[in-house]
Amino acid sequence: MKKILFLFVFLVVAGTGLRADEGMWLPSEIILKIKDMQAKGFKLTAEDIYSINNSSLKDAVVHFGGGCTGEIISNEGLLITNHHCGFGQIQSHSSVEHDYLRDGFWAMTREQELPNPGLTVSFLEYMKDVTEDVLKGYKAGMPEEKRIEIVAKNSKAIEEKAVKEGKSLRATVKPLYYGNQYYLYVFKVFTDVRLVGAPPSSIGKFGGDTDNWMWPRHTGDFSLFRVYAGADNEPAPYSEDNVPYKPKRFFKVNAKGISEGDFTMVYGFPGRTNEYLFSDAVKYTAEKSNPHKIALRTLRLDIQNREMAKDQAVRIKYASKNASVSNAWKKWQGEAKGIFKMRAIENKQDFEAKFTKWAEGKPQYENLVAKFKELYAAIEDLSLVRDYQSEALNAVELIAFAGRGQRGAERFYKDYYMPIDKDCFIALYKAYDKNIDDKYKAPYFKEQLQKFGTVEAWAEALFTEKPNMEMAAEIFRETNRHFNENYAPILDSVNKEITLLYRTYMMGQMEYNKATRGTKVFYPDANSTLRVAYGQVKGYSPSDAVYFTPVSSLDGVIEKDNPEIYDYNIPQKLRDLHAAKDYGQWEVNGSVPVAFIATNHTTGGNSGSPVLDAEGNLIGVNFDRVWEGTMSDVVYDPEVCRNISLDIRFALFVIDKLADADHLLEEMVIVK
Ligand code: ARG
Ligand code: ASP
Repeated sequence: MKKILFLFVFLVVAGTGLRADEGMWLPSEIILKIKDMQAKGFKLTAEDIYSINNSSLKDAVVHFGGGCTGEIISNEGLLITNHHCGFGQIQSHSSVEHDYLRDGFWAMTREQELPNPGLTVSFLEYMKDVTEDVLKGYKAGMPEEKRIEIVAKNSKAIEEKAVKEGKSLRATVKPLYYGNQYYLYVFKVFTDVRLVGAPPSSIGKFGGDTDNWMWPRHTGDFSLFRVYAGADNEPAPYSEDNVPYKPKRFFKVNAKGISEGDFTMVYGFPGRTNEYLFSDAVKYTAEKSNPHKIALRTLRLDIQNREMAKDQAVRIKYASKNASVSNAWKKWQGEAKGIFKMRAIENKQDFEAKFTKWAEGKPQYENLVAKFKELYAAIEDLSLVRDYQSEALNAVELIAFAGRGQRGAERFYKDYYMPIDKDCFIALYKAYDKNIDDKYKAPYFKEQLQKFGTVEAWAEALFTEKPNMEMAAEIFRETNRHFNENYAPILDSVNKEITLLYRTYMMGQMEYNKATRGTKVFYPDANSTLRVAYGQVKGYSPSDAVYFTPVSSLDGVIEKDNPEIYDYNIPQKLRDLHAAKDYGQWEVNGSVPVAFIATNHTTGGNSGSPVLDAEGNLIGVNFDRVWEGTMSDVVYDPEVCRNISLDIRFALFVIDKLADADHLLEEMVIVK
């Protein structure tokens, strides 16, 4: 089974030659792509990227917290990631008196570095194809339930065995290609990770949510941490006696810079993509789910923004929540637009028609398309009900908090402002009432609304001076119970069938491509595992008669600078440095480079990823994508899909000139 698939994937991938830069590749199989990479300028070997026996670039890449990437840039465990990845930590050390979000933070000595309970940094020890072991005991034709059971049991045994091999290991088995293949990932997890430095938000989050997901961009989106270890250089819980971790490998920094056309590579942990979806799923996302979810988040954002503008303390409390609500809200808009512009739904439908024709007389593929249609139609309504359950009913902070047993109360109240939550409740519960068909509404919701008469009156009873926790818990319990008892089982069972179809459809698409001598490239969807993407520095045209060049500079920061607008109000010191042209060694053509775009295929989770040059040196830190290309999670368009990276020289400039933290530059190896 495994051998057949392996050979199959190999043939498909190896036959493609030079082409556009779509794809997120498995480091351990990068040998399959290395010729193409080298043809595009890469100077190293597959073994340099990933090696089981020797140290390789992978040893300097880490999974940062749950959802970001980071990389090690000194022999003393210094780590760089995005400002928005360290945002929660920076915020948690902040108060109105010490506002590190607003003013930035720089540890001038090791003693000043700040510990972050709960934050982890994970190094990948190795990854391995375990398909055969995961499917041991499974026979073709067994029911899907049985397969799931076998996979879970075998995976658990594999993981348990793997963590026994060493200290502080975490192991996880993940499916690729909808379960056509399985990989084991074994990590070493460090828990003593300290905050070293962060620029003020007016640099690290410059442009805020207005510039988010956009090019041209001028955000200095980085923060610095340090990994600490016990005396034996192994992971250890936080202790004053811990020492900076000595990594197997760290990245040298390339301060020579990049120009258009240069090779770049992104090495990180992309979270989730869905490149092989059936047309109806894309249609649901673009035409229904995204518009509804966007509207619901607009309600929340308007309320948050209004209150945050009034009060500095509220701004701090809601800074992180607001950024995350806004982030997906804006992405969904770009994504839907991109899907329509590319005619992705129609293109998929065309493909499905051809596929169906080709599949005639091939029993395993013959009915796939019809079956997909039927299953997606069966869950369309309920999918929207699910979206409203999470984006409306459960999105009220108090209700979610009470419903989940008031865990983390101290933290919850630290960042809670009831007037915001109350208005959100009113807006969201009204939207649910209006947009969800009566027959799907939770009976409890209907009863309560009837009892109170209006959502406003209901809100008065819930958000009393001391909020009514019992009522909040009841709302959560009752509406979720209704959903979980009546709709979740249907969604689950249909989704199981859909997954099973995709497993076959995945093979079918590959086989079709081969049979028709197609040029489609196949790579497993992102699933928060380590991947390599590569491409080149390149501009793009976002719309008719507009062309964006690929590099931004400090002059652009100054152009956008505006003391009146919170997100564009840069520190006076940066203005002064610019006025005096005091750029030191970081000057390039009379300015300092800030960010650049390239054709690397990335997604959420790639934030903080090292962006490497042809020699494997660090030239940037990935932090975003351009708005016109955000549909790349579903369909990639080489014309407009670009990742956005911080030019590492801007980080060096800020550390040097703004923070006067030369000691940090001294521990890096900077290539000039
Ligand atoms: N869009 C980027 C990503 O998805 C940055 C998000 C953080 N910044 C923000 N303004 N919300 O992570
Ligand atoms: N900003 C994203 C992240 O945090 C990256 C992206 O979606 O392109 O991972």
